[in-house]
Amino acid sequence: MAATRACSASELEQDAALRVVIDDVAICIVKDGEGEIHAIGDTCTHGDISLADGFVEGDSIECWAHGSAFSLLSGKPLNLPAYEPVPVFAVTIDGDDVLIDPTVKKESN
Ligand code: FES
Repeated sequence: MAATRACSASELEQDAALRVVIDDVAICIVKDGEGEIHAIGDTCTHGDISLADGFVEGDSIECWAHGSAFSLLSGKPLNLPAYEPVPVFAVTIDGDDVLIDPTVKKESN
């Protein structure tokens, strides 16, 4: 599928997360402190918790339930109890539109 408009860039607050659902895929969109916009899978891999309800710190977001932080760049958990990564989605900015294709996963490193 083609990239879908997820939100507008200007509605995103810095160091905050927004949950969107595109094509039944829950996505957590974060604008980090440097203004970079990231999109990762919204469901924590440790439990059925929305990461968008967690805490953004630098280039990671921490799940509020048990404290695993996930890299916004690679989707990998940085600490236990989660040990499986969440997907990372490619983000395209078109004017003020944030476009995400939930079928296209960015290469993690
Ligand atoms: S549900 Fe996210 S760390 Fe446990």
